[in-house]
Amino acid sequence: MKNFFKLDGKIAIVTGGAGGIGEALAMGLGIYGATVVVSSRNQDAIGKVAERIKAAGGQAVAIACDVTDERSVQALAEAVVQKYGKIDILVNAMGMNIKREAFEYPVEDWDKLFSVNVKGTMIACKAVGKVMRNQKKGAIVNLSSVRGIRGYTGGNVGYCATKGAVELITKALALEWAPLGIRVNAIGPALIITPGTKHIAENPELAKKYAAAVPMGRIGVPEDLVGACIFLASDGAGFVSGQTIFVDGGLTAA
Ligand SMILES: NC(=O)c1ccc[n+]([C@@H]2O[C@H](COP(=O)([O-])OP(=O)(O)OC[C@H]3O[C@@H](n4cnc5c(N)ncnc54)[C@H](OP(=O)(O)O)[C@@H]3O)[C@@H](O)[C@H]2O)c1
Repeated sequence: MKNFFKLDGKIAIVTGGAGGIGEALAMGLGIYGATVVVSSRNQDAIGKVAERIKAAGGQAVAIACDVTDERSVQALAEAVVQKYGKIDILVNAMGMNIKREAFEYPVEDWDKLFSVNVKGTMIACKAVGKVMRNQKKGAIVNLSSVRGIRGYTGGNVGYCATKGAVELITKALALEWAPLGIRVNAIGPALIITPGTKHIAENPELAKKYAAAVPMGRIGVPEDLVGACIFLASDGAGFVSGQTIFVDGGLTAA
């Protein structure tokens, strides 16, 4: 039987590839054999991630793009096709949160959040999806969240709304593009310790509170997401589309 999880010869783009989660996923894809195109707005940061992948024995390049700008994402897709001739995998690991109580939520912040998390996801899927349509094959992995299917307090109404949208972008594209050979899935993490959330891990009381809410009794780390990403990106998930794998220590089982 062939090794379904091997990604040798595959070309993968990771948007948000210099983020806490994006770097782990980019590294994982590289270790499993894919050539990784690490992308975000910060050329310096993505360049360093590409170097770390290469130092670990993988193949990687860094190409900057802003996912909220369709021309920028189009240019990324064209540059990858020009260099490698194809795009097999797109992992949308970019994203942000702006926490504001609902009554005080500035509309400008709401627009900014939706621009990156929702519009950015759609723009990246659209630009890379066109390449995959020509190839009649491709795998897209979006970053949803447990907050895409569970409400949350603490100023998270905007974030929950964007991740709910990512959930349904994933399902709707999976249906629309299934006949084209393009699979669209998502990963839905619970809290993962990254540079943006490390203040929680560093505060023992807060860390205890978050860990207690997770059936497995701990907070996640970026490496927890690598297995789900490799599976969804690989031929091992060849009959899987429109699904979200919740990597959440059992949180959404309740
Ligand atoms: N950490 C968690 O607890 C957690 C839990 C569930 C889901 N998630 C989701 O997982 C994803 C990654 O989260 P993370 O914690 O790794 O976040 P992070 O460390 O803040 O990384 C976010 C990445 O997105 C990039 N980015 C932001 N705006 C962008 C834009 N306009 N164009 C291109 N890239 C952009 C950032 O790079 P530049 O700013 O340099 O462009 C950065 O590389 C997000 O979608 C997040 O919602 C995270």
